[in-house]
Amino acid sequence: MDNRPIGVFDSGVGGLTAVRRLHEILPHEDIIYFGDTGRVPYGTRSAETILKYTRQDVRFLRKFDIKAIVVACNTVSATALDIVANETDVPMIGVVWPACAAARAATKTGRIGVIGTPATVRSGVYDRMLKAADPNLAVFMQPCPLLVPLVENGRVHCGDIVAETVVREYLAPIKAQNVDTLILACTHYPLLSEVVAAEMGENVTLIDSGAAAAESVRGMLVPAEERQGKTRYFVSDDPQGFNQLAPGFLNGSLDFPAEQVDID
Ligand code: SIN
Repeated sequence: MDNRPIGVFDSGVGGLTAVRRLHEILPHEDIIYFGDTGRVPYGTRSAETILKYTRQDVRFLRKFDIKAIVVACNTVSATALDIVANETDVPMIGVVWPACAAARAATKTGRIGVIGTPATVRSGVYDRMLKAADPNLAVFMQPCPLLVPLVENGRVHCGDIVAETVVREYLAPIKAQNVDTLILACTHYPLLSEVVAAEMGENVTLIDSGAAAAESVRGMLVPAEERQGKTRYFVSDDPQGFNQLAPGFLNGSLDFPAEQVDID
């Protein structure tokens, strides 16, 4: 048995989609969550800046004697994970490979859409990884820079005219390609899945990359003993805003209110 916590980080609230799934499937585990709410979004920044932020986020989590790190951020997983994983002796689990595996399992037509931040799309990692596994797949990528600010501001439901308009605009080119599977290649986007699903229609399967990463953690780690796990939350800005948004995104209350840290 290993009762050390699992570390999870993201640029903001999006990584809660992974925490929510971890709570469901690994309820005995303690979790330390860090959301870099003071510097979100990462996905419009340079590779150098994302790498610098990632190193700081990992250094913060390592203070808690964690047994593994779930990188619940596609932008980091796509651009900085390989470098930082080589610098640390704690196992690091990203979201890209689990999301690709889930999409390959879901698609029947082999036509897969991928929506992500500009940095994730620019990295080309989803296209490479999907086609390396199956060269016959057709992959269509679309950057969606305005979706993260929408989620961070809680504009996530059908009936929100701004959310619906922005989502419709971004999804139009992907819809035109008749995909049957859409990877939400940013952990913020599942929080908008009501709006995305309404736009794409019921025949398109949405892949939640944070939940897929959480699933892949199961079986990889020495589990904690049977007891109720607790999650502590840390943010780099506006803990009150996080405390208001997070229960809705987690579908449950917080074990402890978020604490603010100086990540620099
Ligand atoms: C962002 O900070 O831009 C989004 C995080 C992600 O890519 O999952």
